[in-house]
Amino acid sequence: MKILILNGPNLNLLGRREPDIYGNSSFEDFFSTLQFEFKQVELAYFQSNVEGEIINELHRAQQNNYHGIVMNPAAYTHTSVAIADAVAAIDIPVVEVHISNVMDREEIRHISLISKKAMGTISGFGLDSYRLGIQSFLNLKP
Ligand code: DQA
Repeated sequence: MKILILNGPNLNLLGRREPDIYGNSSFEDFFSTLQFEFKQVELAYFQSNVEGEIINELHRAQQNNYHGIVMNPAAYTHTSVAIADAVAAIDIPVVEVHISNVMDREEIRHISLISKKAMGTISGFGLDSYRLGIQSFLNLKP
């Protein structure tokens, strides 16, 4: 099974960015842990701060035959019609994940333009949200 983890803006700063909310681990370190924990999954990782690059990567995922995408669109969750359209446009299921519990934060973060197009949303479990996202694809396997 091939799964792409797709991270949006500012998530390249994980570990240094607001650690009280997002924790102390860099995503690169965490990604190595995921690769170790999910040896049966071919995991790939892409991060961009640029909306169009995230859209291009969603399109590429379709060409590269990924079975699923675990996506943290970060702040674009709340603003990007274009990313929501790209999620709807591809045939690959997308699980939306958030490190923090967005429903327990500012009102702007209660809105997700992505959720409606996603297979499901996991929010508030710290970096475990990604683990749960990957596991949700494994649970679907016949
Ligand atoms: C986030 C929540 C978003 O509101 C925020 O803009 C982020 C990270 C999270 O993982 O908790 O950058 O997606």
